Amino acid sequence: MSKVLILNHPLIDHKMAIIRDKNTSTKDFRENVSEIGALITYEITRNLETIKKEVETPIKKTEVKVLSKPVVIVPILRAGLGMVDGIHNIIPTAKIGHIGLYRDETTLEPHTYYQKFPDEIKEGVILLVDPMLATGGSAVAAIDILKKHQAKQIIYVGLVGCPEGVKRLSEAHPDVDIYLAALDEKLNSDGYIVPGLGDCGDRLFGTK
Ligand code: PRP
Ligand code: URA
Repeated sequence: MSKVLILNHPLIDHKMAIIRDKNTSTKDFRENVSEIGALITYEITRNLETIKKEVETPIKKTEVKVLSKPVVIVPILRAGLGMVDGIHNIIPTAKIGHIGLYRDETTLEPHTYYQKFPDEIKEGVILLVDPMLATGGSAVAAIDILKKHQAKQIIYVGLVGCPEGVKRLSEAHPDVDIYLAALDEKLNSDGYIVPGLGDCGDRLFGTK
């Protein structure tokens, strides 16, 4: 089964409080989503494999450790884009793929409209980024697409999840670990996370 990790950290909690507040401006919302993206990157990359190599310092040769696989960041459009800069600041060598998906407002079923990946998708560690894990339909569909493109090591990185989304994702893709900044109470009848933070894409981009 998927490992589910809720990142307990005072700085992350502080910034989560800001983005949950309905009175937070679009600018502050966007900045804090990106900053949380950076903070959670330390935690999600804690167990990445390294290999030993030798470098020569100005003093002498020494053995060092470097990441053994490339990292690929894959945001689900639109809301995933809000976390990309923060993560990329911490892993600037990462390549970036994109998956365009939206949830039908009535059926809540995901619809794909775009996908583009770097070659490293096959051998890299894929960080699938989407702030909201609600019904889980978008995450499951995105991982189906990544696996069709031969991705082998996928980590789901989100901000707010709920039990319904975690269950659906971990049942469909038990090999994918799930990292979240918060696990909320439930989904409401409109498919929104309670208490959540509302529509993340709209709040990031100032749309309604
Ligand atoms: C939101 C969010 C997720 C999806 C989660 O995107 O960013 O992708 O909903 O819901 P689910 O777990 O029930 O699938 P949305 O479809 O609103 O598109 P947007 O990011 O373009 O606004
Ligand atoms: N998508 C969002 O942006 N927010 C939710 O609460 C659920 C899905």
